[in-house]
Amino acid sequence: MLNMEWNAALEVGVGEMDQDHQVLFDLLLRIQQADERGDFGEANAVLVELHGYTEWHFAREEALMRIHGYEFAAEHGEEHQRLARQVAVMQDELAHDHLMPHDVANFMQRWLVNHIAGADRHAGEAIAQSRQRRDAGRSPSAAPDQPD
Ligand SMILES: [Fe+2]
Repeated sequence: MLNMEWNAALEVGVGEMDQDHQVLFDLLLRIQQADERGDFGEANAVLVELHGYTEWHFAREEALMRIHGYEFAAEHGEEHQRLARQVAVMQDELAHDHLMPHDVANFMQRWLVNHIAGADRHAGEAIAQSRQRRDAGRSPSAAPDQPD
């Protein structure tokens, strides 16, 4: 059984990214729990929610990378698109009963753990450094800048 719970080792040091990742793991856990109860209606419903939240999160992360001039934003965005394509294929298999919701959740969990430990951590460090530089360069009298 995969561990669907978020833990501090998955932190990338950017508040919005870490919060989003926690939401994604909460959704994965709900799918796993619904599946264990045999509640496939609920598992499918949460899977739809997971899909929507993942798209929203990817867009937010990609915007953050662009705002902070992250050098590998394009490659990172491609990694997100690759997952989106794989999930689309899995949804088709799900619709034809060739897969169960927990299969998709397990796949997503493995993907996320790898993606967070690699690409997200790298981007997170660059974004956090960019924020530090921005904050250090801001004079106390300057108007507060726009949120990211
Ligand atoms: Fe990412």
